[in-house]
Amino acid sequence: MKSEHYIYVVVQGRSAEGSVIISSRRVIRVLVADVNDNAPHFLQSRYQLEVEENNQPGKLLLRVSASDADSGYNSRVTYSLDKHTSTIFNIGPETGQLSVSAVLDREQQGVHTLTVFARDSGSPPLESVATVSIRVLDQNDNAPAFLTPHFIFFIHENVPPFAQVGRVGVTDPDEGENGNTELHVVNSSGPFVVDNTKGTLHTTNNLDRETDDHYELYLLASDHGHPFTLTSAARVTIFVEDINDNQPKVILPSSNSSCQTVSPATIAGTLVTKIYAIDEDLGLNSEITYTVVAPESAQNSSPFRLDSRSGNITVAQQLLQKDLGMHHMFIVVRDGGKPAPLYTTIWVNLLVNESMGPCNLDRVPTWTGTSDLDQTPSKAPICEVEDTRSAQLTLLVGLGMMLVSTCLLMVTIVLYLKQKRKSLQQNRGGHVEENEIPLRLKDKYYSDD
Ligand SMILES: *[C@@H]1O[C@H](CO)[C@@H](O)[C@H](O)[C@H]1NC(C)=O
Ligand SMILES: *[C@@H]1O[C@H](CO)[C@@H](O)[C@H](O)[C@H]1NC(C)=O
Ligand SMILES: *[C@@H]1O[C@H](CO)[C@@H](O)[C@H](O)[C@H]1NC(C)=O
Ligand SMILES: *[C@@H]1O[C@H](CO)[C@@H](O)[C@H](O)[C@H]1NC(C)=O
Repeated sequence: MKSEHYIYVVVQGRSAEGSVIISSRRVIRVLVADVNDNAPHFLQSRYQLEVEENNQPGKLLLRVSASDADSGYNSRVTYSLDKHTSTIFNIGPETGQLSVSAVLDREQQGVHTLTVFARDSGSPPLESVATVSIRVLDQNDNAPAFLTPHFIFFIHENVPPFAQVGRVGVTDPDEGENGNTELHVVNSSGPFVVDNTKGTLHTTNNLDRETDDHYELYLLASDHGHPFTLTSAARVTIFVEDINDNQPKVILPSSNSSCQTVSPATIAGTLVTKIYAIDEDLGLNSEITYTVVAPESAQNSSPFRLDSRSGNITVAQQLLQKDLGMHHMFIVVRDGGKPAPLYTTIWVNLLVNESMGPCNLDRVPTWTGTSDLDQTPSKAPICEVEDTRSAQLTLLVGLGMMLVSTCLLMVTIVLYLKQKRKSLQQNRGGHVEENEIPLRLKDKYYSDD
């Protein structure tokens, strides 16, 4: 506080008369020698500054300053950084100038906090501490980045408009508007838009796999950076998955009234005609099988055989006298769609006649059986087979009655077993396929016949 003191010393005596006589006066100068009893003192204990990223290396950040009330060596201050500080920061020991030797990257570290020491040169030295907090300001130095350069999505056809196709991940590590990205669909071959609030791709229209089974588009991502925006693009391929929405189309024969004459001399195994259908769907949904629903008559098994895969109709056995005349085959053309196949029906008409003249159909036959044809043919009502044309009517009726009673008996047994199984299954929480057992029964009837 005060390094010099002056002491005025006065020597005085008293005369004979008693008056005061000053005989001498002296000034004593007292110099107070310094002891290091003051630590350096920072003008601010906390410095704060902001600096833009991508700075020039070696950039000066700020100057810290501390004063020391002592004198001489005791007041000579040197500055240093905490030894754990990143080596990119340096401080001038005498000047207190803080600088950064590297390029700062906000995306790597947004805030740096440094501890600065000011130490005097006394013995022992005294020191004090200040903190410097550096906030790195963002620049738009990162373009939006897609999770993958090529997105592949699958979507079923016939989904309602605005159905979600998929999520397109895009990120931008910049801050604020510099990292605020917006997506756009560019040169798309189909009806698609982006929902920017969710980052998802949507259809705007119905998709029909039979028209277009895949689409290509590009997504353009742009940020709102200032003074310029950055963009990047990703490719998107959308495959439209098939739904069984097309029923088979019969190409051959061309109509229900088409008819073909077959010579009675045709040997067994000869290809007579062919049924051919197409299905525009894909995979199982387009896999076609052909089945004759009901034999033309129960007692007179058809001399023609239909191959369920190829649609080839061949002569099954040597044609006999009883085979002469018209044969109508009611054929169900089914695809393999799950859970329910789609189907169409066609009549194939074959005339066995030695004259080999043109075959004319006076009327298209009509189907009188079940209209529920979307299951396997063995579901046709076997127990209800009826034909009155035959001379062996009585025999047939007898056989029929036997059959009906057998059917009834079996159905009773089956119902009983099913009931039993159901209660068993219910205990296990299972589910019983409704018509499983009766179907097998009918197959058995066929093979026995
Ligand atoms: C998409 O459009 C851009 C122009 O906007 C064009 O340069 C690019 O070739 C197009 N890409 C395709 C695959 O058509
Ligand atoms: C043939 O007749 C059936 C009904 O008996 C009908 O469902 C089908 O569409 C007809 N096919 C053609 C090609 O006319
Ligand atoms: C069906 O007939 C064609 C001849 O038209 C023959 O090439 C093919 O092998 C036959 N398919 C079957 C399964 O018999
Ligand atoms: C075979 O054809 C001839 C002439 O076209 C006809 O008179 C005859 O009745 C036919 N036979 C049969 C069994 O349909």
